[in-house]
Amino acid sequence: MAKIVAGVTTSHVPAIAAAIDRGKTSEPYWQPVFRGFEFSRRWMKEIAPDVAIVVYNDHASAFSLEIIPTFALGGAEEFPPADEGWGPRPVPTVKGHPDLAWHIAESTILDEFDMTIVNKMEVDHGLTVPLSLMCGQPKEWPFKVIPLCVNVIQYPPPSGNRCYNLGKAIRKAVESFDEDLRVVIFGTGGMSHQLQGKRAGMLNKEWDYRFLDNLTKDPQANVRIPHLEYVRETGSEGIEMVMWLVMRGALNDKVEEVYRFHHIPVSNTALGHIILENR
Ligand SMILES: [Fe+2]
Repeated sequence: MAKIVAGVTTSHVPAIAAAIDRGKTSEPYWQPVFRGFEFSRRWMKEIAPDVAIVVYNDHASAFSLEIIPTFALGGAEEFPPADEGWGPRPVPTVKGHPDLAWHIAESTILDEFDMTIVNKMEVDHGLTVPLSLMCGQPKEWPFKVIPLCVNVIQYPPPSGNRCYNLGKAIRKAVESFDEDLRVVIFGTGGMSHQLQGKRAGMLNKEWDYRFLDNLTKDPQANVRIPHLEYVRETGSEGIEMVMWLVMRGALNDKVEEVYRFHHIPVSNTALGHIILENR
């Protein structure tokens, strides 16, 4: 049977992609950021999953205001990197796992989650930056990837509770898949940041730290956070953290926190990263 062995959260800010792709990771601004992922890349190699479910949001690359799925699952064989205005990132094409993806779609839809199934999709920095941070610059990504897009761009995004419960449904789906696969689930985005308006650049380290503490030990405390609190305390883009709750819902109630890293600022955001293992 397939099983979820660990969860990872990472930022997905596009400036990280530019730093990697243009060879700037050892510049003074970027050095501490990438040093913070040295352990993580070793850990990723050791845990060697067969598949990663990457929960992220699309930034008007695959979707636009014309179509706004709340949850969209990628069922294709592959997902090429999107052109976000400067040409596609020089990263490998993401290889999917259609059998597992379709099984997850079937199981979650029958569990009453209205999943959109996407069979042709390009993936943007929301998905490729976390892969780059955790895997470096390989010729091929070392595992298959199932993209799971969450709408956190256009109001109303799903609640933290809905996301957490979707994580539980995904776990049930994975555990009923009849093949021995080791699966890691990524929650990406966050932490506190606001990209526009009067409060652009706002960060909230204390709130971020509490969210990280609770993510490990008391996820229910995070699940109860309403949208208004995210916006008020973490900025308009802090809402991306609901995607971390999909990841957390897919893990055991009790998890081992293997690693944590928080860095301010990255671009004008707070970067948060945590690795949790099901033991
Ligand atoms: Fe984002």
